[in-house]
Amino acid sequence: MPVITCIEDLKRIYRRRVPKMFYDYAETGSWTEQTFRDNTADFAQIRLRQRIAVDMTGRSTASRMIGQDVAMPVALAPVGLTGMQSADGEIKAARAAEKFGVPFTLSTMSICSIEDVAAHASKPFWFQIYTLNDDDFNKRIIERARVAGCSALVITVDLQILGQRHKDIKNGMSAPPKFTLPVLLDLATKWGWGIEMLGTKRRFFGNIVGHADGVSDPSSLSAWTAEKFDHALNWDKIRKLMDMWGGKVILKGVLDPEDAEKAAGLGADAIVVSNHGGRQLDGAISSIRMLPEIAAAVGNKTEVWMDGGIRSGQDVLKALALGAKGVLIGRAFVYGLGAMGEAGVTRALEVIHKELDISMALCGETRVANVGRQNVLVPKGFLDAYS
Ligand code: GLV
Repeated sequence: MPVITCIEDLKRIYRRRVPKMFYDYAETGSWTEQTFRDNTADFAQIRLRQRIAVDMTGRSTASRMIGQDVAMPVALAPVGLTGMQSADGEIKAARAAEKFGVPFTLSTMSICSIEDVAAHASKPFWFQIYTLNDDDFNKRIIERARVAGCSALVITVDLQILGQRHKDIKNGMSAPPKFTLPVLLDLATKWGWGIEMLGTKRRFFGNIVGHADGVSDPSSLSAWTAEKFDHALNWDKIRKLMDMWGGKVILKGVLDPEDAEKAAGLGADAIVVSNHGGRQLDGAISSIRMLPEIAAAVGNKTEVWMDGGIRSGQDVLKALALGAKGVLIGRAFVYGLGAMGEAGVTRALEVIHKELDISMALCGETRVANVGRQNVLVPKGFLDAYS
C-alpha cells in the first residue's frame, strides 16, 4: 500500500485511477467555480491558536451527532454516483464509516440502492432525499428507507434545479459512461477501475432506475434533475416530508440565517450550513464564512453542522471552533474511495482523525465539546467582509 499522509495523497492516486468523467464530476463547482474555490480558500485564511502546557492526556475526539455516538463529529456526506468512483462504492464507503464509528449518508442519486447498502451494512445509515415531482415515488422511497432501517433522513434543500457544471457537459457525464472515443481512450489508461466495474452489476442509479420512469435518458443526472426533480419544493412540502418520515431529520443546504430560523422552526434535528460544495449557486458565500452567524442565530434550537471545503482535521477543528457541532465530508472521502476502495475511505477517516486529535491537543483542548472561538484566530473583517 502506498504511503498516505494526507488527503492530497489520496487525491493524486484517485486522479490516476478513476475515469476523467467521474474525477471531474467530483472535482468541480458550478459556472466559474468561485464558490467552490472560496470554500477551501476561506478555511486557509483562518489560523489555529496554539496553547502550551495543557495536560493532553486522556483526550478524545468522540462526540454526538443528533444523539448518535460518533468517533469524531464527522459524517460522510451524500454524494451522487459514488458507485462510479469505485465499483459498489456506496457499500464500500458505508462499511468503512460504520467500522470507523462515523455516520454514512446514502444519496438518492447513488448507484447502489438503499436495499443493497442495507444488505451489506450492519449498522443503520442515513438516507438523503431529493424529491421527485412524483408523490408516489417520494412516499415509496421514504418507506424504502424506513424498511431498510435508516436512522435519519437528510433532506437536501438547495437543489431543485441543477447548477451548471461545465465539465460534466463537456465530458457527456453519465452512469454508466457511454463509450465515445474520448471515453474509450481514457478508459484504456484506467483498466483497474474498468475490471472492477465489469465485476459488478451496480452501474445505474439504483434508487430510481426501475422505481421511477418518464425521463429521456435514465443514465443522465442532468436529465433526472431537469425532468423529474420537484421544482416546486417549498417549506410546506419540506414539513410534509418531515411528517411523512416521522424520525430524525437533517436539512442540508442552508446558507442564510433567515432560512436557518425557518428550518429550526420546523423542528429539524440538525441543519447543514452548505452551498452544496460550490456546485449550485456560483457566487454564493463560502460555508465557513457563513457558519458563525447561523450558529449564533439558531445554535440553541437545533444542531448546526457545515460542509464545503473540509480537506483536513485542522479544517474540522476550525469549523467546530466557529460554531459547528459537526461536519460532513464529501470529496475528502471520495478521493479515498476512488484511490483505494474501502481501505481508501478508512485511510481518509484515519488521516482526518489524526489531524483533528493532534491539532486539538496542540490548541490545548481535550474534548470536542470545549472547542470554541478561543481556538482560532480570524483575520480582521473576515466574518463581516460581506453584508
Ligand atoms: C448532486 O447532488 C450533485 O451535486 O451532483
